Amino acid sequence: MKLETGQTALVTGASRGLGVEIARRLAAEGLDLILVARSRDALDQVAGDLRAAGAGQVRVLAADMSDLGSLPDLAQAVGAIDVLVNNAGMEAAAAYDERSPAEIADTIAVNLSAPMLLSHALLPGMLARGRGHIVNIASVAGLIAAPFNEPYSATKFGLVGFTRSLRMTARACGWPASASVVCPGFIDGAGMFETLKQDFGVVSDGMGTAPLHDVGQAVVDAIEQDLPDVIIADGDPRQMAAMAVVQPLAFETASLGAPSTAMFRAVAEARRGASNHSR
Ligand SMILES: NC(=O)c1ccc[n+]([C@@H]2O[C@H](COP(=O)([O-])OP(=O)(O)OC[C@H]3O[C@@H](n4cnc5c(N)ncnc54)[C@H](OP(=O)(O)O)[C@@H]3O)[C@@H](O)[C@H]2O)c1
Repeated sequence: MKLETGQTALVTGASRGLGVEIARRLAAEGLDLILVARSRDALDQVAGDLRAAGAGQVRVLAADMSDLGSLPDLAQAVGAIDVLVNNAGMEAAAAYDERSPAEIADTIAVNLSAPMLLSHALLPGMLARGRGHIVNIASVAGLIAAPFNEPYSATKFGLVGFTRSLRMTARACGWPASASVVCPGFIDGAGMFETLKQDFGVVSDGMGTAPLHDVGQAVVDAIEQDLPDVIIADGDPRQMAAMAVVQPLAFETASLGAPSTAMFRAVAEARRGASNHSR
């Protein structure tokens, strides 16, 4: 779908991180924006910055995506849109046996159930108006399992599978709307990997990081070229993803020696230390 002035994009998770860059890039393409996250003040700040930089209309809607029952009201408040970017997400490296059931349920809700339900609520309007594109922001952890990240990896694999299925339905039915999945690896500049750097002293070396501006470009490319998936990483994780399917044991052995495994283990251990300390 060609992006044009006068179209409207909804970006979830637009109060900080990758969502701000995606919103900025779509505004630069001339789109009006609806920004969603829980933090109203941060959304207002982002909206103000976008308007000051020349964006068209920018609305903000404060919503908690883990409250799945509130999503129909959110969709109603959103109204007609051309682009939906399901970007809001949560991640916390930890050992699975140390997580609370509530955290597991929240991660599934925010990372997978909410994108599927929001897509379900907003897709009929796109079909009725004859155009639309859904972009799901998954992760390389949705193509290659990341240790110490079971809820995150499971939901991101789910988001990849959801998008691939929806795309094929769209093509089989000749819909005027489509969907893409964007899979960032580790992104430098803003977002959850940047937060790990600041909070836990994680370093980018050896992690195959990509810069923040690649994220906005990936979303634009996905929509305008109707791409099934776009991977944002220094290097191509597709070979590792293929190895995980074809040679799972060899993949596990290779992965256990990867710098990302050591990084996630260190973060999980630091988090466990911090939570033991606060008891
Ligand atoms: N940064 C990376 O290196 C990287 C790599 C791979 C994939 N990703 C994916 O990229 C997406 C954006 O991540 P990020 O790096 O920008 O993370 P981030 O800096 O932690 O930002 C997460 C965004 O999601 C929103 N959010 C979280 N929980 C929410 C909830 N319950 N309801 C509504 N909004 C919620 C946050 O807003 P509030 O707190 O204001 O609600 C925030 O705007 C995620 O899907 C993530 O999995 C990121």
